[in-house]
Amino acid sequence: MLKSAEKILAAAVLAGVLAATGIAIADPQPAPGKAVAAKGETDKARQAVNVPAPAAAPAPAAKPIALGRPALAEEITAWNTDVRADGEGLPPGKGSVKEGEELFLQNCAQCHGEFGEGAGRWPVLAGGRGTLKSERPEKTIGSFWPYASTVYDYVHRAMPFGSNMTLSADQTYAIVAYLLNLNDLVPEDYVLSKDNFPKVDLPNEANFFDDDRETSEKAFWKKDPCMKECSGEVHVTARAQILNVTPDGEAPKGNLE
Ligand code: HEC
Repeated sequence: MLKSAEKILAAAVLAGVLAATGIAIADPQPAPGKAVAAKGETDKARQAVNVPAPAAAPAPAAKPIALGRPALAEEITAWNTDVRADGEGLPPGKGSVKEGEELFLQNCAQCHGEFGEGAGRWPVLAGGRGTLKSERPEKTIGSFWPYASTVYDYVHRAMPFGSNMTLSADQTYAIVAYLLNLNDLVPEDYVLSKDNFPKVDLPNEANFFDDDRETSEKAFWKKDPCMKECSGEVHVTARAQILNVTPDGEAPKGNLE
């Protein structure tokens, strides 16, 4: 962003350029002296004189829009529930794996299974370690997620599905402790709290990195990208029926609509 001094300079330069090229600029309130001095001069000169002088004083502060009111501190607090990777945003509180097990059985197991294995087709929350590179990766808190703080944030914000935001801070700590235990990340007698939270590392964290496509795909980001016939000649190598992805049999008869 331009600093204000630079803005003023830029405005002055722009005004100069426009004046030099003879482009008329309407001055809403020409200084009286200037207007008088302009009388009888050639058009070009008059336009140059009528160019608004670059504002020396800073622009007046924008008026607030007459809409709504500033948010109250209480309202901001109610919305500001996110928990960051470094633990910033965690509320005071604590909860044990044991308490978490009980709460999980009451509130979560019907969908996620007693051990986070997932009931039916509901999401699996534990296990899956070592499967990320396999044909069927199982992405769970233990195998995939980068930060434990996301578990707190997500469970507190979005679960139990259908009655979210009903868990207290202590209950959420306890359930997260149980989920970490199901993923073999903390022992059975663990008590999770705001203080020891940042010490819990998830195994897959190192595999997350900042978007590096600008360097890793540098060759792709050309000034003159190919926009037409870029892939060369296309050869048909097989037909769907030969590949056996189209069922045999006769085509349906009649109007299908
Ligand atoms: C009625 C079924 C149901 C109940 C009960 C339920 N969940 Fe979920 N849970 C879901 C569904 C559905 C999703 C996926 C939501 C989505 O992706 O938008 C989910 C997603 C999750 C995820 C993220 C999984 C992932 O890898 O993306 C976690 C963690 C989770 N639930 C924890 C819990 C906890 C803890 C409880 C109990 C406090 C709970 N859930 C109760 C249905 C349920």
